[in-house]
Amino acid sequence: MSPPPIVRSRKSLRTTDSPINFYIQKALETPGLISLAAGLVDEGSLPCEAVAQACQAVLLDPRRGPAALQYGSTQGLPRLREQVLHLLGQADGCSPHELNLTPDDVVLTTGSQQLLYLLAEVLLDPGDIVLTEAPSYFVFHSVLQSHGVQVLGVPVDEGGLCLPALEELWEQLARQGAAERVKLLYTVDYFQNPTGWTLAAERRPQLLELVQRFSRRQRVLVVEDAAYRELRYEGPDLPSLKSLDRDNRWVVYAGTFSKPCAPGLKCGYALLPPEIREPILHLKGNHDFGSAHLVQHLLAELIDRGEYQRQRDRLRPLYRHKRDVMLDELAATLGQEAGIRWSRPAGGLYVWLAFADLDTGPQGALAQAALEEGVLYVPGEFAYLPADGERPPHHACRLSFGVATPEQIREGIRRLHRAVRRVRHSTGTASAGQLNSPAVPPRGTVA
Ligand SMILES: Cc1ncc(COP(=O)(O)O)c(C=O)c1O
Repeated sequence: MSPPPIVRSRKSLRTTDSPINFYIQKALETPGLISLAAGLVDEGSLPCEAVAQACQAVLLDPRRGPAALQYGSTQGLPRLREQVLHLLGQADGCSPHELNLTPDDVVLTTGSQQLLYLLAEVLLDPGDIVLTEAPSYFVFHSVLQSHGVQVLGVPVDEGGLCLPALEELWEQLARQGAAERVKLLYTVDYFQNPTGWTLAAERRPQLLELVQRFSRRQRVLVVEDAAYRELRYEGPDLPSLKSLDRDNRWVVYAGTFSKPCAPGLKCGYALLPPEIREPILHLKGNHDFGSAHLVQHLLAELIDRGEYQRQRDRLRPLYRHKRDVMLDELAATLGQEAGIRWSRPAGGLYVWLAFADLDTGPQGALAQAALEEGVLYVPGEFAYLPADGERPPHHACRLSFGVATPEQIREGIRRLHRAVRRVRHSTGTASAGQLNSPAVPPRGTVA
């Protein structure tokens, strides 16, 4: 007799595997495939030697070695929290004091992804509303979905979030009596994942004004996900939303060492308004009572030695070159075809490619043809959370120039071009193409 069923929690039932993982498995199974899908970083430039030296310095120090291998605090290493504030102050051209921030307002997390999860857990109940960019970072969408909240997307353009559209949406919610359900506004405001666009300087104070105006009975927090801020290839840095929040009341700043240093260290940081710091710490205490202590010591050492800063600065020309290779190859190939546009990001890892006509969905002809040509992209529809029953926009895709070499980027774009031409010139056979159902891959292969 079989045992009775295991009954899962409601939250677990709302938590699904990301569709992207099925798709990525296909890549793993296909030899010679060039992945322009994965959000991984450039491998050749990862700072192995600097980390090895920092590791040796920390572990062979009779005081720091044992401390680093001991449990730390839930909030994280005080020295690294100070350094985080210092780095942010440098980026924003003001002192932590001017921002009313102290190391007490900083929490170190296991990547910024953990912070996003903790925030959702601390702030959101089923039925709450989160406003986000459309398209946006799909891994956070999964978190929001598992919390049973309603996600409402606001269009983005080259200047980031479209504020008139946001205002209109909020007014509409107010008329329906639903504005009080809005708890969070989430923005990836530097070189966004997936479009590569940045929130324009003039929109930054306006966004905060809007949020304050619509925070009537309860405060709507802005989550500023600055995961790509350090990967800037041209132009001046823009002031963070956090730096405009002089009283530390409205903005949660989510930063990470993953992109400018090494994702394998998996260390992120949060700057939090005081009222939510304790709740976040209580919850993090339940999760892990502190992220990897050794990693925090290593990062503190890398920053003290200036290695982190050198690494970050070394990455800029390297990724700028890869971006330019991708943009040049796009112009030379897909630029010759009608009805195709793409973003020109000033930083980050992504180009957003939009077609006037082609369906880029995972079951569509282009995805199939691209796979047959040996190149992989992220279907744009994964970056939207549509209203129930509606198919999200499906005429764009995300291309990453992070992990592929310049030669692979060039070849990948050529393959994509061939795929586009095949689909456009086909007589219908391609549009009937379907991806075979792949086996379930390990989670988290792309972000
Ligand atoms: C927009 C954005 N936010 C957060 C993260 C999470 O990064 P990590 O947890 O490695 O800091 C990613 C990862 O790709 C991302 O693209």
